Formats: sequence, structure tokens, C-alpha cells
Amino acid sequence: MKLRSRHLLGLEGVSKEEIAAILDTAVSFREILDRPIKKVPPLQGKTVVNLFFESSTRTRISFELAERRLSADVVSFTTAASSVSKGETLKDTARNIEAMKIDMVVIRHSSPGSAHFLSRVVDANVINAGDGGHEHPTQGLLDMYTLREKFGSLEGLRVCIVGDITHSRVARSNIYGLTTMGAEVSVCGPETLIPREIEKLGVKVFHRLEEVIPKVDVLNVLRIQLERQKSGLFPSLREYHRFFGVTKEKVARASTPITIMHPGPINRDVELSADLADSEHSVILRQVTNGVAIRMAVLYLLGTSTQ
Ligand code: CP
Repeated sequence: MKLRSRHLLGLEGVSKEEIAAILDTAVSFREILDRPIKKVPPLQGKTVVNLFFESSTRTRISFELAERRLSADVVSFTTAASSVSKGETLKDTARNIEAMKIDMVVIRHSSPGSAHFLSRVVDANVINAGDGGHEHPTQGLLDMYTLREKFGSLEGLRVCIVGDITHSRVARSNIYGLTTMGAEVSVCGPETLIPREIEKLGVKVFHRLEEVIPKVDVLNVLRIQLERQKSGLFPSLREYHRFFGVTKEKVARASTPITIMHPGPINRDVELSADLADSEHSVILRQVTNGVAIRMAVLYLLGTSTQ
């Protein structure tokens, strides 16, 4: 199946059929990751540039591995070692790189809308690897892949996203993707970290973990952004942990064994207790493995389409 857009900028507006096609394509790439030789040729002759204007461990390494495993030529860029540190704009940076005849760009940037902007100023396919608090579509896709792998289907699956929903691109992409695929999505966090009118995106809102835990199959726990603490959105890390920290004791109250997800990096014993993160409930490292397959699928579908 061909995706409607030549870019992946977000999951908002991506259809159920398109998401299913990406997840299905990722299944065959996931199998390749278990082979002794993990390389296939579809992107041979294509050049992909990874523009990371913001720090990343998982997403950046995962994209680079995915590109290399599809046999693309790969160039990676970080702000500190580039002319951005001399004041060059995003548009000039991107157009200069494109002048070197590249085919695809993966961008992470702290400004919401930066991937959309880039898609308007370059001819290459653009993939959003996280733009500020807006979207992180490949994270949403790898989360859905991991859940579909575990539960067989996303239809009717009860998923609660816990934590700082307001500032989270992971929450937004998960909400768009999971609701499109028929999951029952809820969010839980302090009132200061839940956007007003979020119900309009088709999610239920909870402010008490004890209330939501018995009603869900999955908790997707978000990183508490420590920099937000200075802005007074929650009183202290200790208090946050007491009320919204997900622990073994709290999940023991679930009606069925609960699955724990986290996009990483984890603040251990703040939003998620260390013992639960490392327990049989956790699919966190599985998410990371599946991320490579998802990124291979997205790169393959965009990079081999003739539109
Ligand atoms: N999940 C995620 O985006 O992690 P990184 O910031 O390490 O890429």
C-alpha cells in the first residue's frame, strides 16, 4: 500500500489503513532484525540525512540503524558540530544539505511545526523524529506495534497515558494513532499537566491513578520533564511520585496484569519505580527493539514510493 503523503510529519490525519500498513510492513522488518545478517537492499543508492537539533539516544540510533539496515547512505548531523552554532537558519541548513543531492531527511527539533516547515522548503521526503511538544509519530507507531504484538489487536484495548500530557509529543502521537485504531484511550496526571478540552481528542481524563488502574490494560508512563518543576506545575518530585508515580504496589490493584510502557529516558523512582520498570510487566526494551523495525517500515514505504 502507498501512503497518501510523501512525508511522515505526525499521526494526526493518518488513516487506520495507513497505520495498519506501516505496522504490517514492520512485521517483516522485525524478523530481519533476528537474522545473523541484518541487512536488506531496498534503499541502496538513497541518501538519508539525520538532522538532530535536540538530544536523543533511542530515536537517533534507531533511525541510523534502520537506514543502514535498508542499505541507505547515511549522514548524521548534530547542532553543536554544525554551522547552526554560527547562527545559520533551519531553512538555509536544510537547503544547503539538499543541494548535495539527498533523498530523505529525518528531523528532531525543539520547535513544534519544524518538520512541517522543512517539508515546505525541501524536495526530500521528511520524517518527523519529534518536534517540540507537537508530535513524535514513529514513537506512536512503535508503541502501537508493541501493543499489537502483545495483545493481537488494538481495537478496544484500554490504554492510559500517565504524566505530563500538556508538553508531550509522545502523548499526542499516541492519542491520534490509538484512537484511530479503535483503542480506548485515557490520560491521567495533575490538572496542571493535562491540556484543557483534551476530551475533544476522544480521550477520558483521570486525576487519580488509583481510579484508572483497575480500568485499563496498559499504562504508558511519560517522562516527567524535570525542567518543568521550576515553572511550578507540580510542587516536588517526591509529591509527584507519591500521587502519580507508577509502582508495583499501585499496579497490584489492577483487575488484570497490567502492561507498562515508557518511551524513555526514564527518571527511575520518579514517574516509574525501578523495580516495575525492570519487571515482567514492562515492555520498555521491546519498544526500543520494535522502534528499529517501525523506522525501517516508514523509511521503506516513503523511500520506495514513486509519488
Ligand atoms: N523516546 C525518545 O524519543 O527517546 P530519545 O529522546 O532518547 O530519542
